[in-house]
Amino acid sequence: QGDVLIAPSILSADFGHLADEIQAVERGGADWIHVDVMDGRFVPNITFGPALVEAARRATELPLNLHLMIVEPERLIDDFAKAGADHLVIQAEPSATIHLHRVLSRIRDLGKSAGVALNPGSSLALIEEVLHLCDNIIVMTVNPGFGGQAFLPETLPKLSRLRHMCRERGLTPRITVDGGITTKTARAAVEAGADVLVAGSSIFATKDYGRAIRDIRASTLV
Ligand code: DX5
Ligand code: ZN
Repeated sequence: QGDVLIAPSILSADFGHLADEIQAVERGGADWIHVDVMDGRFVPNITFGPALVEAARRATELPLNLHLMIVEPERLIDDFAKAGADHLVIQAEPSATIHLHRVLSRIRDLGKSAGVALNPGSSLALIEEVLHLCDNIIVMTVNPGFGGQAFLPETLPKLSRLRHMCRERGLTPRITVDGGITTKTARAAVEAGADVLVAGSSIFATKDYGRAIRDIRASTLV
């Protein structure tokens, strides 16, 4: 396994000082910035739109990894791309989009990294036929909607099967885990096949972001 990337989720940041928070995790060694876009329909919560992504873009040069927990992402991907997102990751469930293949192709046509996210209750079968269109895949390790929830260990076998399925097909997407990642859970996720770790509360709820990032990274190595 190669290098593991850390992607702090700004869902748990102080929204009153978002640019400072992003720059603080960048100084602390973050690899990507994970931006949770929620529409109050696919998930109960509501968060960020394209204007905020534009502000985040001005704050950092790190890749902006957008996690779109929204229905009909096809209506907004062009705006998010224009706002400066680097990765556009859409939910794989048919309740989000009917034409998964078409939307992923569109994201690549926009020159962006394309990806799908899978909820804990969703099977890998949902993404099997679009795997070749994915630059990164998020395996949700909590049910989406909120930060600070407990990691669901029953998602680990799915992670291993996904890693295996990619290897069999000669595909090398980044595989991200999202939800409940801490120094206690990160290692199991990496062992099962993750190479990107999203972490919200386990970074932003601490005083020293750099230390939290280093500790999570180190916990995957011991
Ligand atoms: C959950 C979001 C996550 C969230 C993770 O709906 O997709 O990205 O911010 O937060 P933690 O790391 O606190 O579980
Ligand atoms: Zn997320």
